[in-house]
Amino acid sequence: MSHCILAIETSCDDTSVAIVGDGPVVYSSLVASQIRSHRRFGGIVPELASRQHAETLPELVARALYDAQRSFSDITALAVTAGPGLEGSLLVGLAYAKTAASILNVPLVGVNHLHGHLYAPFLEPLPPAFPFISLVVSGGHTALVRVTDYFQFEELGRTRDDAAGEAFDKVARMLGLSYPGGPEIEKQADSGNPKAFAFPKALLHERFEFSFSGLKTAVLNSIRQLEATGTDIPVQDICASFQACVIDTLWHKAVEACRIFQCRQLCVTGGVSANQALTRIFSDRAATESIRLFVPGRRYCTDNAAMIGLTALFQLQSGYSSRPSIPVQPSLQLCDLPRS
Ligand code: KG4
Ligand code: ZN
Repeated sequence: MSHCILAIETSCDDTSVAIVGDGPVVYSSLVASQIRSHRRFGGIVPELASRQHAETLPELVARALYDAQRSFSDITALAVTAGPGLEGSLLVGLAYAKTAASILNVPLVGVNHLHGHLYAPFLEPLPPAFPFISLVVSGGHTALVRVTDYFQFEELGRTRDDAAGEAFDKVARMLGLSYPGGPEIEKQADSGNPKAFAFPKALLHERFEFSFSGLKTAVLNSIRQLEATGTDIPVQDICASFQACVIDTLWHKAVEACRIFQCRQLCVTGGVSANQALTRIFSDRAATESIRLFVPGRRYCTDNAAMIGLTALFQLQSGYSSRPSIPVQPSLQLCDLPRS
């Protein structure tokens, strides 16, 4: 049977809908960003996020079907993020998907958002082959994962405190840059000196564990010292030095995992993998190590429903769908399939 999956992702502050078919092929993929609404609060307001998902979702589904030149009668399954994420936001997507699956009488597939990020490189024409090492770097997670087959994951290590994206967001806030911080820091860093500040690279000797809170404090201390002496804050140099420090730390751990597991394929996924300096430095260094680097196209790095539809496709091919009573799972772990 050929599939035409309607996929919904509402785990955080982006409402996303995609139509995905076998191949995999993405017939349409839309993201309605809520950034403008949350920006004035300096971060995500959960209650506002759920309300906006509820307002946006039906219209976005209609547009995604239109763009894909498909109708509800073509849909063979509903895919939806079951977790992890904000409970209220997840609930909106899940309620919609449950209702649509029931009306259309098609299977419902609850998806782990992090599996979506892990499989996002499969949306590109040249996907990795199993086994591969994956570095997941998003706003909520930073982890190194060994992927040996479909839904065979081993988490090698994760962050002990802040996620890499979270560190970008917090440092941006310290510097008065807007939310989300990653793209803003990247822009500023382009004209800064990455060697201007020697920020600490944490846990280099703890193989696959990460920590970014010390780096965040070091940046804050530098800003305070400069302020105390009345010196202008060199925003571009701080951004460039901070970004270089994060990239170096991530590379150090990722290449170590590749060496230890003798794996020549490395994926980098999640919002932070949209950072062009990161992909440039990773691809240069990967080439010298004879490692093949896989990074999803930019629109599939940050949250999107195409990666959720793709993961659902793999789940259906492995014989997994969910019961209509599947609950939201805000604290779902990286290696787990959603419980049904
Ligand atoms: O994967 P994602 O869209 O959502 C989560 O699942 O968390 O990641 C969002 C995170 C934010 O922290 C954002 O600042 C970061 O990804 N990000 C970036 C860039 N674009 C987004 N970080 C660094 N450089 C970027 N260009
Ligand atoms: Zn995400």
